[in-house]
Amino acid sequence: MTFESGAPTLHLPFSRPDGPSALLRLHANAGAMDNEFAKETEMKFKFHHMNLCTDNLPRLTKFYSQLFSLGAITDEEHTVISRDRADRAYTGAVDFLTDGDIEFHWAERDLDTGFKMNASVNPMGHGHFCFRTDDIKGFMKRCDEMGIRYSDYGCWAIPGWYQVFLQDPDGHVIEVHQPGIFNGL
Ligand SMILES: [Fe+2]
Repeated sequence: MTFESGAPTLHLPFSRPDGPSALLRLHANAGAMDNEFAKETEMKFKFHHMNLCTDNLPRLTKFYSQLFSLGAITDEEHTVISRDRADRAYTGAVDFLTDGDIEFHWAERDLDTGFKMNASVNPMGHGHFCFRTDDIKGFMKRCDEMGIRYSDYGCWAIPGWYQVFLQDPDGHVIEVHQPGIFNGL
């Protein structure tokens, strides 16, 4: 299978019955998780995609799709809508690929997205990896409680996704998003 020919359209639901459990339950008295932030929660997280930013998107996409036989994701959800509105800043192209389970978002680099969004974290300079959650507001509340700063991009680049970007202690950029909470966007 190559990217150019016969790449299937794949739909990836939030829950994959054959995937690892994403339910993270923290208990206030649970040994290693015994800290001031550990508490009972139903908030779910699941690794969703990896993003690499590049100055040569066709070259990067061809390399990964041919070497690892990745297919293209071509459904309506996987489009970039930020270019349609001036206040959403990112106008680059994105290739959405998959191995049939995990998504890969190869994107044109934009070092100015953070400046244009008036946001401290720029996810489009050096890429990021992403967790999907079912409670983005709860996630932001958790960050607030833990003193972790983040950039709230809201519904920004992908239809229906509420996206938040933050950094780990070493500066790697992490996306957390919740899908399907903005109708028609
Ligand atoms: Fe992303």
